[in-house]
Amino acid sequence: MRFSVVLGTRPEIVKMSPIVRDLQRRGLDFDLVHTGQHYSFEMDRVFFRDLDLPEPTINLEVGSGTHGAQTGKMLVGLEKFFQESRPDVVLVQGDTNTVLAGALAAVKLGITVGHVEAGLRSFDRTMPEEINRVLADHVSDLLFAPTDVSARNLRAEGLPEGRIFVTGNTIVDAVRENLEIAAGKGDALGSLGLRKGGYILTTLHRQENVDSRERLSNVLIGLERAGRETGLEVIWPMHPRARKNLGTFGLAIPSNVRAISPLGFLEFLQVEGGAALALTDSGGVQEESCILGVPCVTLRDNTERPETVEVGANVVVGTDPSRIVEGVRSMLLRKRGWACPLGESGAGGRIVSICQERTIQG
Ligand code: UD1
Ligand code: UDP
Repeated sequence: MRFSVVLGTRPEIVKMSPIVRDLQRRGLDFDLVHTGQHYSFEMDRVFFRDLDLPEPTINLEVGSGTHGAQTGKMLVGLEKFFQESRPDVVLVQGDTNTVLAGALAAVKLGITVGHVEAGLRSFDRTMPEEINRVLADHVSDLLFAPTDVSARNLRAEGLPEGRIFVTGNTIVDAVRENLEIAAGKGDALGSLGLRKGGYILTTLHRQENVDSRERLSNVLIGLERAGRETGLEVIWPMHPRARKNLGTFGLAIPSNVRAISPLGFLEFLQVEGGAALALTDSGGVQEESCILGVPCVTLRDNTERPETVEVGANVVVGTDPSRIVEGVRSMLLRKRGWACPLGESGAGGRIVSICQERTIQG
């Protein structure tokens, strides 16, 4: 039995890593298929290094582009690769253009498709990620829903019960296993001059935020005020899309906000775990901060991770500066110690076992 594990962006590399480790442990045959959607060292290679992942069998080197051009190039490359390698199962993860292309190329070749992190919904069709998730779910044969909430979303769209498996989210193991490794590899807080609990960690990259001058400018005002009014330093490992658009819009970073290059996963985990609070529009950071017991303020109008809000780990505030400051103030006072709502350890292994059982049966 042969697996193809498709990935292309940093969150996919992180969240696929527990599955890759499980495939390696079991000695199963697999190809790691990289679309090349992310390609800068700090968005791509550093994660292979930090997570000790094998070299991809192929990198399609698709790079950046419009949604159509990027997805189209991936489809062409993935179809050719799957035709030649004939995997039994193709695994895709999350909601990027890579996921959509991987699922679509495979299903049309009659290959079993497994969607990891199925059933998340923001119910906001203006987000490219929502379109990608819905389409990937509807063409996949095996839907690995991380929680009961995501499984319910799938059922509500009429997806058959027999395809839905509640497995937990692979991010739980990606965080827990690598936090230990990170601690043994160096002192990220020390080398950045940060004091545990003395700073806010911010990340920003969503199309709806960084491609809009108004929303991006509002976030900058909110960051400046949040830092000033709480007396906390704001540290911002900056996604290249945010950096590019700050330049395009001619917007300046407030003087009390420290922008740095994106961090590798092991450093980022330490910085995330030591933060007083995470202020972000990232899906992964909403989950990881919840796992790490760090309160999160989400710079979006909605979230497809409502479980984090329900347990009290996260609040969704949008980009209005006053609401950002209000969210930061209230979450800094929030009692920590919530239970992790993203499932137990072992999601990667459960996913691999289900693929094996289903493919042998099918
Ligand atoms: C993509 C995903 C998003 C995911 C995010 C994770 C889609 C539609 N979007 O968004 O869901 O949350 O990845 O980070 O699939 N760039 C670089 N170097 C890189 C990659 C990107 O400089 O290695 C810059 C380029 O200017 C590029 C821009 O970032 O145009 C956007 O990259 P792209 O992959 O299109 O989208 P992301 O914003 O990264
Ligand atoms: N991340 C990282 N370094 C950074 C910022 C993020 O290692 O400087 C990791 C983070 O730990 C998480 C993933 O990148 O695992 C989240 O990626 P991103 O926010 O780009 O995408 P999303 O999760 O929103 O799809």
